[in-house]
Order: sequence, then structure tokens, then C-alpha cells
Amino acid sequence: MEAVTSAMEKLTTAMKGGAKEQVDTGGNLQDFMGHPLETNAQRSGGNLGGKVVRTGAGVTVTSNKDPDHPMRAVCWEAPRKIAVEQRPRPLITDPTDAVLRITSTAICGSDLHLYLGSAPGVQKGDILGHEFMGIVEAVGPEVRNVRPGDRVVASFDIACGKCRSCGHGAFSGCDSTNPSKDQEMMYGARTAGLFGYAHVTGGYEGGQADYVRVPFADVNLLHVPSDLPDNKLLFLSDIMSTAWFSTDLGQVGPGMNVAIWGAGPVGLLAAHCCQVRGADKVLLIDNHQYRLDHAAAKVPGLHTINFDKEKVKEVIERILPGGPDVCIEAVGFHYCKSMIHAAMVKTLMETDTADILNECIYCCRKGGAIACVGVYVGLVNGFNIGAFMEKGLTMKAGQTPVQKYWHQLLDMIKSGKLDPTIVITHEMPLEDAPHAYKIFNDKTDGCIKVVLKTGVGRSDMVGPPSGPPTTA
Ligand SMILES: NC(=O)c1ccc[n+]([C@@H]2O[C@H](COP(=O)([O-])OP(=O)(O)OC[C@H]3O[C@@H](n4cnc5c(N)ncnc54)[C@H](O)[C@@H]3O)[C@@H](O)[C@H]2O)c1
Ligand SMILES: [Zn+2]
Ligand SMILES: [Zn+2]
Repeated sequence: MEAVTSAMEKLTTAMKGGAKEQVDTGGNLQDFMGHPLETNAQRSGGNLGGKVVRTGAGVTVTSNKDPDHPMRAVCWEAPRKIAVEQRPRPLITDPTDAVLRITSTAICGSDLHLYLGSAPGVQKGDILGHEFMGIVEAVGPEVRNVRPGDRVVASFDIACGKCRSCGHGAFSGCDSTNPSKDQEMMYGARTAGLFGYAHVTGGYEGGQADYVRVPFADVNLLHVPSDLPDNKLLFLSDIMSTAWFSTDLGQVGPGMNVAIWGAGPVGLLAAHCCQVRGADKVLLIDNHQYRLDHAAAKVPGLHTINFDKEKVKEVIERILPGGPDVCIEAVGFHYCKSMIHAAMVKTLMETDTADILNECIYCCRKGGAIACVGVYVGLVNGFNIGAFMEKGLTMKAGQTPVQKYWHQLLDMIKSGKLDPTIVITHEMPLEDAPHAYKIFNDKTDGCIKVVLKTGVGRSDMVGPPSGPPTTA
């Protein structure tokens, strides 16, 4: 209990912006050529200011750098402040690494938690981005499955492929790739390192850049065919896999009824997946009418609910008396609906809101299931445990083990069964990332999903770079 209290204190301190992340730095620091990494530290210049960090399992977090070859990278500066900066290109650092030349990268709803400064542990200058694909530029001597020139998609979670969690297919829970002691204290264990995310998930450099280093390339890269455009493949990296994962967590099957909270890219693709899995009625809830209208146009037969105009429970009962079999949470911890949770989050009496989960519990049919893929980071007050228990509900949650699903999903994209492009409203060059973050967060300009193109490799760019949105 003491550990939890102390972790909570750390989390709230981090949210006030005062925390120093604790990391395992390993002992014997050498690169795979046997060169001491300490002397390479000045070449690092990465997310951790040049300090070489290794996980307990020996994975180097900070990549070596090529100071002679600059690249562009999207960096976090402060809440709501993103800048495109020049950085040295990453080099192969561990023998199982690949370096990718990025062609397409996207902004995810999870990036908005960082953008707003709501998630703890992001630092000024961190390179963002965890949804990306490109061409393999170089590989370390122990990489077997990919070669320079291969076209690949990267998983947002960094898995080793060898530990107990990876052995169970729980790649997002990899035991080896996250050096954060703070996360261990907060959660009782460390989950996988993530690209371009907060330091509690490792502090790895992200893929909203021209180049990125991918540890354990054999596990975290998926070889993709050359006859499909980037936009059809990119979201295997994250949101396509996450949407499918949500329906897998809820065991959505033929004839079932599903309600989905959040008409962002994840919720919209989850609705698409529900229909592909043979669900009967699918309801999508949000308060941005343009997102609901877009979803209804892309997913035939979808029922939409605007919670600013209608009472969610009443509409659900009218369409699905007794409630849905499955409720999917695709919103996340920073969207407070009630004044009370907004006040508690603001005053750091809790880190996350229980508003959406409570609504799922309230609306779900007795004995039904809740699948939570919206991100939560800490503690909530006022969780309706009574209703959850008395109604006999189950809840499953998690960061997506992308590598578990991407082969199957790639086949479904190839056959035309799944079409991830239905979420794309904007394509822009990488330089426009600050504007892209703003419209995605503010939900202006009809924005649902932005794809950023680097222009350094294969490009599927359509229309003028900064022109009006192009709907796929
Ligand atoms: N589990 C994973 O592996 C994983 C992967 C990707 C994204 N995510 C998470 O999924 C969530 C959604 O991602 P996204 O890219 O669609 O982001 P998004 O922010 O664009 O979408 C969230 C949507 O929820 C809506 N919303 C806010 N309050 C609501 C409420 N009370 N009821 C219903 N809807 C509400 C918002 O208006 C918005 O349209 C985020 O929390 C993101 O971090 C998780
Ligand atoms: Zn994401
Ligand atoms: Zn592992």
C-alpha cells in the first residue's frame, strides 16, 4: 500500500511537471562492436540529453547518432507546443536493431495525452511518434527477417520476443524493453517500451521523423507488400490493430450488439471491425457531430449518438433494450464529461476520470463485457464498482500487442475485407506537424486522422501538401 501511495505521489508530481524519471542504466556499456558506449554519449544527443540508458535486459534506449547527417524530427516542447527540429540521424546501436527511413507516420489519440501535458513523463525535446512505416536503411548483424530496402510497418510497442510476456503473445507487456523504475513502482511491473512516448515507457525516440532506430527489428517490423499504398498499411502499426484488439477483448461475434464510446480514429475503426466480425447493431457515441456523420457515411447501418444532444442511456435502451453485449471504451483518461471529475483531475485528487467507464458499466447488459482500449494512466475516484459487480460484468483492457494481430490483419487488408483508410481526413508534409497536432486535438477543419509524409522515400501523397483535407 505504501508503494502505491508513493507511486501516486510520484505520478501527481510528474503531472505537475516536477518528476525526475528513474531509469535502470545498466553497468557494462558497450555497443555490439565492443566499443564503450560512454565514449559515444556525446553522439547520442537523443531523448535523454546524450545520457546512455540501458534496460536491465541490456537493450540500449538511446541510439548512437550520425552527427554528419541531420534529419527532421517532430519534438515535444511544452503543453500544446510542438516543433519540427533538426536532429542527427540514429545509427545501429544494438546488434538486433534496424534503422528505418520513414515514409509515412501518423498522429495518434495517445499523442494527444502528451500534447496536452496530461500524461506524465514527457520531456522537452523528446521526439514523438509511435505509428509509422518506411524502408529499412540498415540492420545490425543479428537481424534475420528484414534486409535493407525492405518495406516495413513498425509496431508501436517495442517487444524483445524472448521474455515470458512475449512468449505468451503479450508483446505490449514485454519484460525487457522498459527501463523505468517509476513505472514498476506505479504498476507493480514494467510494461513494454513504446516509441516516442513518455519516459515511463522507456523514453525511446519516436517515428515522427525522417529516420528512426527500431530495437529487436525481427520482432517489431512487419514486412509488407509493395502493391498496396502506405495509407492502407500504416495503421497496422497501431490503430488498426488496436481497433481489432478491442473487438477481440470483447469477443465480438455474429449477432452481437456493441456500443462504442469515442468516434475518433480508434472508435471508428472498431465499428468497422465489429461489422466485419458479424455484429448485429453497432452504436457509436461522441459529441462531435462531424465525426459521427463521417462514421455513419463510412460504416453502413451504424447508429450514432451525440451525447450533447441526447441522453446516452435512453437512446441505447431504445435501440437495444437491456443494453449492449459489449461496450468498447475508445476515449481515454483525459476526456472528463462531468464537472466533478474535471475538478478532481484539475486539483490532482485523481489523475484520470471515471466518467466514461462508469457510463459503460451503467449501459452494459447484465453479464456483458467492457473492452477498454482508451488509455488510462493512474487512479480514478468514484468508480462504480457496485454496478460492475452486481451486474456481473467483465472488463478487459490493455495496450495492443500489435505483433499478435498484424499478420492476420494484413491478410484482411489485402483481401479488401478491412479498409483502414476510412479514418483519414488529412495528409500533410512532416513540417506541418504543429498544425496537424492542433487541428487533431481541437477537432477543427473536419479532422479525424492525419497522416504525415516525410517525402524522403516512397510517397502516396495526393493533392497539394498543405491544401484542403483529402478524404480517402
Ligand atoms: N490501447 C491501445 O493500444 C491504444 C492504441 C491507440 C490509441 N489508444 C487510445 O484510444 C483512445 C482513442 O484514440 P483516438 O486516436 O481515436 O483519439 P481521439 O482523441 O481522436 O478520440 C477520442 C474521441 O472520444 C470522444 N469523447 C470524449 N469524451 C467522450 C465521452 N464522454 N463519450 C464518448 N466519446 C467521447 C472525443 O470527442 C473523440 O472524438 C485514446 O485514449 C488513445 O490513447 C489506445
Ligand atoms: Zn497510439
Ligand atoms: Zn519481451
